[in-house]
Amino acid sequence: MENIKEIISAYSAAFNTRLPEFFPIKTAPESRVVEAMKYSVLNGGKRLRPFLLNESAALFGLNFDQTLRTAVSLECLHSYSLIHDDLPAMDNDDLRRGKPTCHKAFDEATAILAGDGLLTYAFEILGSEKTHPSAEIRIKLIELLSTAAGAFNGMVAGQMLDLYAETAQSANTENLIKHIEEMKTGRLIRYACEAGAVLGIASAEEQQSLASYARKIGIAFQIADDILDVEGDASLVGKTLHKDIQQGKATFVSLYGLEEAKKMAGRHIDDAKETIAGAFGARAHRLQLLADFIISRKY
Ligand code: IPE
Ligand code: IPE
Ligand code: MG
Ligand code: MG
Ligand code: MG
Repeated sequence: MENIKEIISAYSAAFNTRLPEFFPIKTAPESRVVEAMKYSVLNGGKRLRPFLLNESAALFGLNFDQTLRTAVSLECLHSYSLIHDDLPAMDNDDLRRGKPTCHKAFDEATAILAGDGLLTYAFEILGSEKTHPSAEIRIKLIELLSTAAGAFNGMVAGQMLDLYAETAQSANTENLIKHIEEMKTGRLIRYACEAGAVLGIASAEEQQSLASYARKIGIAFQIADDILDVEGDASLVGKTLHKDIQQGKATFVSLYGLEEAKKMAGRHIDDAKETIAGAFGARAHRLQLLADFIISRKY
């Protein structure tokens, strides 16, 4: 059996080698914001969303180079969401990817701008002909990413709900938590699969199967994140732990406890594997392994 950790490491090493070319060196007074963007994107991170995008596109025969720009765009957007998530007004975190958070390493205003810069850059990359010669495909990617990241059922909506649930009287309703986890995390994970399908010119049926797989691993991914916050090893996770309980976050762990949350995540992963194998057979082997990794990961 292929070792998924090694496969992901090999992908992220290749990805990291290519990333610096997206951030040309420039010396100007305003370059501080680019330094903060680079600080947050270049070092660390599992690169799971880029990997997932690449593997989804690989189902249709695409290679690393053909997916790289779309994958970088997604990682920029994800990194922006982390910078803003860590800000004092949001989760107020000091540590990210094993290093001081962006606002700690720079300052709050620069971190806000670095997030803005990465968000905007994600779409600049997608809009370029270098990403794909077909304008129709580029527009589709832009439409999907903006929807996934946005305030109407996207990541921003999920983040708003996450903050709302901190203070809501009866935050612990299963539906509310599911909605938070699906939107704040699940939507960008689903986009990774959607983008792979768009680049691969998948049929409607194939797109649906990938999206259904993505929905299930997306929710399991956030449950795993919530579990790691409680029982992870800080040196591996690279974030300050026990934050969720401290800040009164509504998660499946806070609602059902660790054991039941683990079972729920496991059920989502089994379901996801069945879905993807049913649709793509042996071609989906790596996506099946990735699903297992999402809940077995220690970081
Ligand atoms: C962390 O995402 C934030 C969530 C959406 C739960 P990752 O666990 O993928 O973080 P990196 O990119 O590896 O740092
Ligand atoms: C953050 O969820 C999700 C986004 C950044 C959109 P969390 O707040 O749980 O992520 P971590 O634990 O800080 O990485
Ligand atoms: Mg948060
Ligand atoms: Mg956070
Ligand atoms: Mg978390």
